[in-house]
Amino acid sequence: MVPVAPALVVIPTYNEAANLPPLVERLRRAVPEVDVLVVDDNSPDGTGRVADRLAAADPAVHVLHRPGKDGLGAAYLDGFRWGLERSYRCLVQMDGDGSHLPEQLPRLLTALDRADLVIGSRWVPGGRIVHWPRRRQLLSRGGSGYSRLLLGLPLRDVTSGYRALRREVLTPGLMADVAARGYCFQVDLAHRAVRAGLRVTEVPITFVERTEGDSKMSREIVAEALWRVTAWGIASRFRALTGRGHT
Ligand code: GDD
Ligand code: MN
Repeated sequence: MVPVAPALVVIPTYNEAANLPPLVERLRRAVPEVDVLVVDDNSPDGTGRVADRLAAADPAVHVLHRPGKDGLGAAYLDGFRWGLERSYRCLVQMDGDGSHLPEQLPRLLTALDRADLVIGSRWVPGGRIVHWPRRRQLLSRGGSGYSRLLLGLPLRDVTSGYRALRREVLTPGLMADVAARGYCFQVDLAHRAVRAGLRVTEVPITFVERTEGDSKMSREIVAEALWRVTAWGIASRFRALTGRGHT
């Protein structure tokens, strides 16, 4: 069931105290072979303490505490570094609010058999979204479509946060350069993997909107993603025109 092992699921959290315990329980039940790392940014609601309690009760669960809210991308980079140092061969990205179903993790892990990066996709046949308002669906489709067009990515769901990757994807160069702040981290990581010639595939997932707590998506995060993707698109066109750099 886990072709690339050992595997570590990295879960970034900011104010997910109510969501984390049921999520970790489901995850441990669905795929007992994988370890879990919660990366908490000193959540005011005490998610860090909740995570410590889960870790104390289960040796497969670990916690990385960061001093304050510093963005989704930065949290993932710290979590990946933790996993790379401990020789995990597979790293998984999963939201901490229950939107990504642990029961669907086996399909991501299985697809890693013939890929370097597997993206759990809402926008391929079989992909679904439950309880997302129309404007959020439009934002996701629009964001993916814009990134696909500008960056020439052969992907339907470029911003998805449910992914499995081989450790080889996380080269020192990528770890140093990837956009470390908001959600456009997801776009940058996918773009770099495609440009590096790695095998990137999508498998359908069902994304279920959270029932507890609030999304951290903000106008600033959308604005950052928009200007960065635009800048990356211009840069890659420029590279193609001048023939400089083949990546
Ligand atoms: N440690 C840490 N620090 N965690 C964070 C931060 C941060 O600054 N910001 C957000 N998170 C955590 C949340 O607590 C949650 O576990 C996860 O990251 C996703 O955040 P949400 O706020 O629930 O994201 P969303 O549902 O609006 O966005 C989803 O869709 C985006 C666009 O498709 C996610 O799947 C994103 O990953 C995705 O890019
Ligand atoms: Mn969410």
